[in-house]
Amino acid sequence: MEVKIYDNAEEIAVAAAKLFVDIINEKNDAVLGLATGATPVPTYGKLIEAYKNGEVSFEKVRTFNLDEYCDLPKDDKNSYYTFMHEQLFNAVDVKEENVNFLDGNAEDWEAESKRYAEAMASVGGIDIQLLGIGTNGHIGFNEPADAFTDESFKVTLTQSTINSNQKYFGDVPMPRYALTMGIGSIMRAKKILLIATGESKAKAIAGMIKGGVTPQLPASVLNEHQDAIIMLDKAAASLLD
Ligand code: GLP
Repeated sequence: MEVKIYDNAEEIAVAAAKLFVDIINEKNDAVLGLATGATPVPTYGKLIEAYKNGEVSFEKVRTFNLDEYCDLPKDDKNSYYTFMHEQLFNAVDVKEENVNFLDGNAEDWEAESKRYAEAMASVGGIDIQLLGIGTNGHIGFNEPADAFTDESFKVTLTQSTINSNQKYFGDVPMPRYALTMGIGSIMRAKKILLIATGESKAKAIAGMIKGGVTPQLPASVLNEHQDAIIMLDKAAASLLD
């Protein structure tokens, strides 16, 4: 794992977007693994800027998002499908047919997991996977557990995640379940970029970097990836030596 520390979230967004732009310009039909949450929003903003300045085109890019809530209509204002369209897809030239999500309303999540795995494999796998991190060390929605998962699966969200994410839903109770890429699906990406900003992530980041590999802190598995980059602001890095 390569750990890079930046002064602030803005500098991370510039560096993270540059990494994506370089990969897309090298391989026009790059396969991007994308993440939701507040952390990647500034990076998506920089990608939109790069597109508008003519520095990159998403015309041939394929995307796969990490996760989606269950029991929420696809076009609900809080679905990750809506989030990605609002934060990135609607503002760039990505083709809707090249945008992939897990279907959180699929009746048979195991069949849905198989479909997603096959779809990723059929385009040669993910070239770069973007990740945020939960305050409990989750990636995607892989919550702390007794064992690492492999392909996508249906997860019961932990109280910690519900406490962190309920704010986006206001007074409406947020979903209790989600479909998420498993740790195996994430680790098969050729390159991984995890970004974390703010003091609320400092404990999870310190555990990930210093605490050894354990499914109790899912992000720690990135220690075993051959090409994982971790971009932190000073606050997220504040518990590192
Ligand atoms: C959600 C997403 C994760 C994300 C995490 C942190 O639970 N499933 O992919 O990394 O939240 O979100 P934020 O960046 O808002 O702190």
